[in-house]
Amino acid sequence: MQMTDWIAKKRDGGELSTEEIEAIIQGYTTGSIPDYQMSALCMAIYFQGMNERETYDLTMSMLHSGETLDLSPIKGIKGDKHSTGGVGDKTSLILCPMVAACGIKIAKMSGRGLGHTGGTIDKLESFPGFVTGISEERFFENVNRIGIVIAGQTANLVPADKKLYALRDVTGTVPSIPLIVSSIMSKKLASGADVIVLDIKCGSGAFMKDEAHARALAEGLTRVGRLAGRKVCAVITDMDEPLGCAVGNAIEVKEAISVLKGETRGELLELCLVLGSCMLTEAGLAVDDSQAREMLTETITSGSALKKLAELVEGQYGDSAAVYDTSLLPEAAVTVEVPSERAGYVQHIEAEQVGLVSMHLGGGRATKESTIDLSVGLMLHKKVADYVEAGESLATIYAPNAPKAAEAAELLRRCYTFSDTPVEKPKFIKDIIR
Ligand code: URA
Repeated sequence: MQMTDWIAKKRDGGELSTEEIEAIIQGYTTGSIPDYQMSALCMAIYFQGMNERETYDLTMSMLHSGETLDLSPIKGIKGDKHSTGGVGDKTSLILCPMVAACGIKIAKMSGRGLGHTGGTIDKLESFPGFVTGISEERFFENVNRIGIVIAGQTANLVPADKKLYALRDVTGTVPSIPLIVSSIMSKKLASGADVIVLDIKCGSGAFMKDEAHARALAEGLTRVGRLAGRKVCAVITDMDEPLGCAVGNAIEVKEAISVLKGETRGELLELCLVLGSCMLTEAGLAVDDSQAREMLTETITSGSALKKLAELVEGQYGDSAAVYDTSLLPEAAVTVEVPSERAGYVQHIEAEQVGLVSMHLGGGRATKESTIDLSVGLMLHKKVADYVEAGESLATIYAPNAPKAAEAAELLRRCYTFSDTPVEKPKFIKDIIR
């Protein structure tokens, strides 16, 4: 059998064997299977789907297409977290120091962001001097010594996914659950953690627009992770409006620090408590969620999570003084307010469009080669269900210059819709799959 037969088999609703899937991924990664055949197969998978065994085999074949990270030299339970991506998502900057302060070892490899804001490592580069490309020796030394590293991807992890994702992106085959599951889980499994928590965003600003699709993805991801022998749980969370209030890079770091200082509460802290509880209970460091929440809350009240962030920054050559004095982080040249044109209750904030405002200011990357301005972004003062008076500020814009600020203010105003009557806030934590 060869690729044409395998394409036809899947097109007609057949099941690909373990060996066939392995041959396909091998052939595609090494170049013997061309893009046009692989795109036809992806489209067949998009329409016909894959069963659990096929999805698992696809994940494992992709995982073995490159290097894997051996975390066995690190003592203790290794934890990792993945989010399917949303606007204003600075959860890792809060959650990782919190769980590390509870004894979980965080050896995290993160990619750079493409789109509305940077990724976690871009945001961390807001700390003057912070190095994401640390040596392997320093990586292991830091995790063992301070319990936390968040570094850029250095190892050649899952080359099959790099090639396949780029192909799916231009062939209309990204939104296929088995392809997404294998793409995400191959990378997470290759990163070597024992416990993986997944934040599946759901809503207009997310990849998964409705709860049914988000749940199907969450179940697919957790099943494959468990078949691979890891402890995995998934939390489905709302992304109908941005997460928290800050959208940008340095400005998101500032919001994360204010949560770690105990100054900001709300949904962002709640998400970290829920994800953190999953991690601590799965790791066996807490007997139940209630004990886990107590341990996590204590990291905020005692200041141990904030201290852990400072140790992370210092361990990667950054200026940890900025953790305690955020005026040392990059600051935008111009700030303007966005006054509301009317009074009313905020009905909806178009999250994806808010992300694009940040990108318009220079806070995100249009292409992999673009550089980002860490100082720009926006801070929302009104979220869904809040009441606003006419003329009251909806948000502050942080811009490189006045014309950009004015453009961004107009774009941001258009992201809001209002109601004359009170609005119910959507449920934030929609489900937990463990
Ligand atoms: N994120 C990934 O890493 N892969 C996908 O296929 C979709 C989202």
